[in-house]
Amino acid sequence: MQDKRILSRHVDNPAETSVIGHLLGNICIRGDVILLQGDLGAGKTTLTQSIAKGLGVSADQYVTSPSFALMHEYRGREPLYHMDFYRLTGEDDIEGAGLLEYIYGPGVAVIEWSDRMGGLCPEQRLEIEIKTTGETTRLYTFTPYGTSWKSRIEKAFVDTSLS
Ligand SMILES: Nc1ncnc2c1ncn2[C@@H]1O[C@H](COP(=O)(O)OP(=O)(O)O)[C@@H](O)[C@H]1O
Ligand SMILES: [Mg+2]
Repeated sequence: MQDKRILSRHVDNPAETSVIGHLLGNICIRGDVILLQGDLGAGKTTLTQSIAKGLGVSADQYVTSPSFALMHEYRGREPLYHMDFYRLTGEDDIEGAGLLEYIYGPGVAVIEWSDRMGGLCPEQRLEIEIKTTGETTRLYTFTPYGTSWKSRIEKAFVDTSLS
């Protein structure tokens, strides 16, 4: 049996992106890893802001792009580790920056430009590809790896929020 399913969803505007992010944040559990792919300006940081809200990160902890710091940590229902590997070239950089303990840590890791991770990708993960299809329209493709993400994402797709 194939363990990999692909589900997609179009959005028309940032408000709809926010609904998706909230929903994802709501269903996150300790140890989760969400990998975000998409060009600059696709909305990886914007999606992470609403994931943070869904995870209970308070509005005074404003979620910004971690491009320079590599990782920002926020306090929510679980700790949120927001990473951005844009400036990194590969696995050695990620290990050298001491980020493995956050990727494999007890919080929720959301990672932009995760294509730099190579063999460091955890087996259980949710991959989200964001394609810019217009000024405010986006196509999200969700690929869950592992039974936990697979069942949660499929359930979310039967919910009105993600269908
Ligand atoms: N439907 C949408 N979803 C997310 N962002 C959108 C959408 N429509 C327009 N945008 C805009 O696109 C930009 C995305 O920027 P950002 O989240 O920083 O992208 P990335 O982190 O992928 O480089 C923001 O200015 C946001 O307001
Ligand atoms: Mg970004």
